[in-house]
Amino acid sequence: MHRVGVLTSGGDAPGMNAAVRAIVRKGIYYGLEVYGIKRGFHGLINGDFEKMELGSVADIIQRGGTRLLTARCPEFVTRAGQEKAINKIKEYKLDGLIVIGGDGSFRGAMALGDRGVVQTIGIPGSIDSDIAYTDVCIGFDTAMNTVTDAINKLRDTATSHERIFVVEVMGREAGFLALYAGLAGGAESILVPEIDFDIDEVCARIKKGHERGKLHSIILVAEGAASGIAIGEAIKKKTDMDTRITILGHLQRGGTPTAFDRIIASRMGSKALDLLRDGKSNLMVGLMGGEIKPTEFSTALSQRKALDETIYDLARILAT
Ligand code: ADP
Ligand code: F6P
Repeated sequence: MHRVGVLTSGGDAPGMNAAVRAIVRKGIYYGLEVYGIKRGFHGLINGDFEKMELGSVADIIQRGGTRLLTARCPEFVTRAGQEKAINKIKEYKLDGLIVIGGDGSFRGAMALGDRGVVQTIGIPGSIDSDIAYTDVCIGFDTAMNTVTDAINKLRDTATSHERIFVVEVMGREAGFLALYAGLAGGAESILVPEIDFDIDEVCARIKKGHERGKLHSIILVAEGAASGIAIGEAIKKKTDMDTRITILGHLQRGGTPTAFDRIIASRMGSKALDLLRDGKSNLMVGLMGGEIKPTEFSTALSQRKALDETIYDLARILAT
């Protein structure tokens, strides 16, 4: 093991920079050369490589986004695109490649690992936190706190005006962000793609709360469950109560990573280097019960991460 490449791919997540820093510095500590690859698989195909030094990752541990830039790269899904990437891996004599991203990025890493040209390790970075075999992904804690903070602010104005607020959060296919921020923010109802909901029941809960003197209601909607606009309009029509809609959008993906995200990113980045040095490949690292552990890509990608329904039930009981 002499040379390692690192890239960030798919949607960015706060804490990716802390992972890149850990990979560069641990790699150099091990006496390896580390190359940063720009714009995910796009940079791998096009040879957009940067030799990283200790100072290359100075002053980024606290920054959101990704210093390496990220992209979605449809060309890499094709065999021809992967051949181009393999040629670059050979040209730069990479022995290891660390991919920081979500499940799509891991499929890309696995495609390369399966070809046997390079050892690949994945680090889960996604505010959706929808990857199995890790309790959370890098970026989730920060995004959860961002959404909770937004709910706190909306509650202030919602209470003053005695309004209902429908808040749409990210999560096209997974409701982890909505669920945990909803519990933390005391949302009256949480709508997630994994669990069916009945709009009449949502309205009945709002009315019941109103009758016992609640001054506001917060309805949290994961974008994959329904459109916040449609839900807001339906609630307004069915309850005849003053309703406003807020779509949090991409502000959920930015911001200073929390200490927790920086810590898991640093630990995962470090573990990825250890695994490469041990000759391992086609693994993702995950946080499981406080420890950073490896799991085969094929195992992790074969499962959809399940939402904990006891958390969903708890949120409902506590926000009655
Ligand atoms: P995420 O990693 O956040 O899930 P995407 O699903 O957009 O984001 O995937 C990021 C990139 O990973 C894609 O643009 C593509 O280059 C690569 N990728 C996704 N799926 C595959 C696949 N099945 N095979 C090879 N590469 C893939
Ligand atoms: O996968 C992370 C995510 O933020 C999703 O929650 C969201 O639906 C999607 O990315 C948005 O992607 P884009 O930045 O391409 O609009």
